[in-house]
Amino acid sequence: MDKLTIKYNELTAEEFILLWKSVWGNPPTLEQTRLALQHTLFRVSVYHREEIVAMARMLGDMGMNYYIKDVVVRPDWQKKGVGTLLINELLAFIRENGLEGTDIFVELCAMPDKIPFYEKLGFGANEAQRLKQTCRL
Ligand SMILES: CC(C)(COP(=O)(O)OP(=O)(O)OC[C@H]1O[C@@H](n2cnc3c(N)ncnc32)[C@H](O)[C@@H]1OP(=O)(O)O)[C@@H](O)C(=O)NCCC(=O)NCCS
Repeated sequence: MDKLTIKYNELTAEEFILLWKSVWGNPPTLEQTRLALQHTLFRVSVYHREEIVAMARMLGDMGMNYYIKDVVVRPDWQKKGVGTLLINELLAFIRENGLEGTDIFVELCAMPDKIPFYEKLGFGANEAQRLKQTCRL
């Protein structure tokens, strides 16, 4: 793999939207994204020659629970180990910041075709179902 640079808590709303559009299309607004990133516990972004190629972010309370969101590798960089790198960075943050001797729960929501990717990284499904509601403001 070419040399990549990893940055922590520097991901901008503009970069987030760029990557979102590269895989999911219609993105959230700039203002909404800025607010969300401002309240995100930990952000990881990956660059190749100053250009963003991947991101992931994590919500969490440091003591018991974390939630992984918006794991995106730009399509031309997929299947090169960058997704694995992102998740390992998030897990390293958890290990470095948690209390010794405690269990910490790390959750995420994955589409069925992405489950094998997460399984390789140690995640597994349990019997809980995801419940969801969208609040329109
Ligand atoms: C899912 C995603 C983050 C994976 O990133 P990636 O950089 O391609 O993954 P890696 O190269 O680190 O892959 C690690 C392993 O998972 C496998 N893998 C990756 N994506 C996979 C998929 N969709 N289905 C099955 N296996 C997959 C790889 O083949 C590799 O296996 P190996 O170690 O046996 O070679 C990336 O495809 C992506 O950004 N997709 C679009 C956005 C998205 O859906 N994000 C997830 C939200 S839940």
